[in-house]
Amino acid sequence: MVDGVLKVEGSRPLHGEITVRGAKNLVPKAMVAALLGESQSTIRNAPMIRDVEVVSALLRIHGVTVDIDQNAGVLYLDPTDVESAQIADIGRHAGSSRIPILLCGPLLHRLGKAFIPDLGGCHIGDRPVDFHLQILQNFGATIDRSDGGLTLSAPRRLRGTKIELPYPSVGATEQTLLAAVRAEGITVLHGAAVEPEIIDLIDVLQKMGAIISVDTDRTITIEGVDHLTGFTHVALPDRIEAASWASAALATHGDIFVRGARQTAMSTFLNIYRKVGGAFDVHDDGIRFYHPGGQLRSQALETNVHPGFMTDWQQPLVVALTQAQGLSIVHETVYENRFGFTEALNKMGANIQVYRECLGGAKCRFGAQNFYHSAVISGPTPLHGADIEVPDLRGGFSHLIAALSAEGTSHVSGINLIDRGYERFMEKLEALDARVERIK
Ligand code: EPU
Repeated sequence: MVDGVLKVEGSRPLHGEITVRGAKNLVPKAMVAALLGESQSTIRNAPMIRDVEVVSALLRIHGVTVDIDQNAGVLYLDPTDVESAQIADIGRHAGSSRIPILLCGPLLHRLGKAFIPDLGGCHIGDRPVDFHLQILQNFGATIDRSDGGLTLSAPRRLRGTKIELPYPSVGATEQTLLAAVRAEGITVLHGAAVEPEIIDLIDVLQKMGAIISVDTDRTITIEGVDHLTGFTHVALPDRIEAASWASAALATHGDIFVRGARQTAMSTFLNIYRKVGGAFDVHDDGIRFYHPGGQLRSQALETNVHPGFMTDWQQPLVVALTQAQGLSIVHETVYENRFGFTEALNKMGANIQVYRECLGGAKCRFGAQNFYHSAVISGPTPLHGADIEVPDLRGGFSHLIAALSAEGTSHVSGINLIDRGYERFMEKLEALDARVERIK
């Protein structure tokens, strides 16, 4: 059994209140943006998660002073003395995160060179970086692939460029923004991702002095400027974490007030939650999610880029769908390989079959490629405890939910992976009256 094992006594409704802080998929990027400033930046509402630790370490070895107030969730970043880091140190600190690729633009602006080690991240598909590399080349960077990573250099200032993304990739859009804001001239990005976390990053960059406009047709135009300053920003809340606790409330017949959850960025999730039979009340300072009683209803849904149903909401919700009456269909169109977690659910009594075909929606990029990217969930099926192993961040949380709602005892191993994106989740589980004990 791998390290980090949680013993879970299931079949207890989760009830109580927890707080979600800033988004995992925004805060590390805002930290990278701070590299571009000429003075100190402050990020409030920052979650204390592993991805924040990884970026702090990477920034520190590049000469940035990073001070962290853990309780208040505040990061202070001073990039005045940015310097090159040792390749060995970069490799050591990059951890399993995918954020290092986003340091390229800022480091090229500040130092004229950057080294990026081979990337980690969750194993939910191939997760190539071809868009990123093409973008950086468009800006005028040269890239040398060597063992263990990429060495980039920019003999002169990066130049604004035209970019057409083949798919509205979140990371590639952020790469473009972080490179374009200080490039010479104008950059026009077509086919951009417009997730709320990206709009929040644009807010950060605008506070720093950037000039960025977002059109309704996924076009973002950036006018490069010569200097950027530091910023102070309150990070938008983590809508993935909020939806994960919402799914936990539904699957365990519970009632959870998620302080910090905000309706706007979650409206697509809330629609599906209501259609499945979940209930929620929106308050000024958070959202209460609960199982109102009665039978949950099956749903057909398709994951997509914003404003569609987020891929990261899918895995936790599937656990609740195992308790819905009838056949639910989930067509995953963002990642080709995001149903690995269903194996453990089947072991616990669920009836989930995965298919290569695009089921229940329009044809997607993966339909013709033999990827098991559609799932049919037949319910309701009572779940029973089992020994299971966390496959990836969101799949891991869905395993936790399954164990919490199942009859009997489960051992969930590999829970360290969950720390990457769920702040103090053990404390939160205890606050919600879960019977959990870390045994290894
Ligand atoms: N893609 C390429 N080439 C590239 C980049 C992406 O083919 O160069 C493909 C990917 O393989 C994928 C699709 O484009 O099939 C979308 O990937 P995207 O670039 O949008 O994802 P990302 O930036 O790597 C971020 C989040 C993910 C989240 C996705 C989609 C971070 C650190 N990660 O990943 O979050 O699922 O956007 O919203 O922001 C998570 O939080 O668990 C997580 C995986």
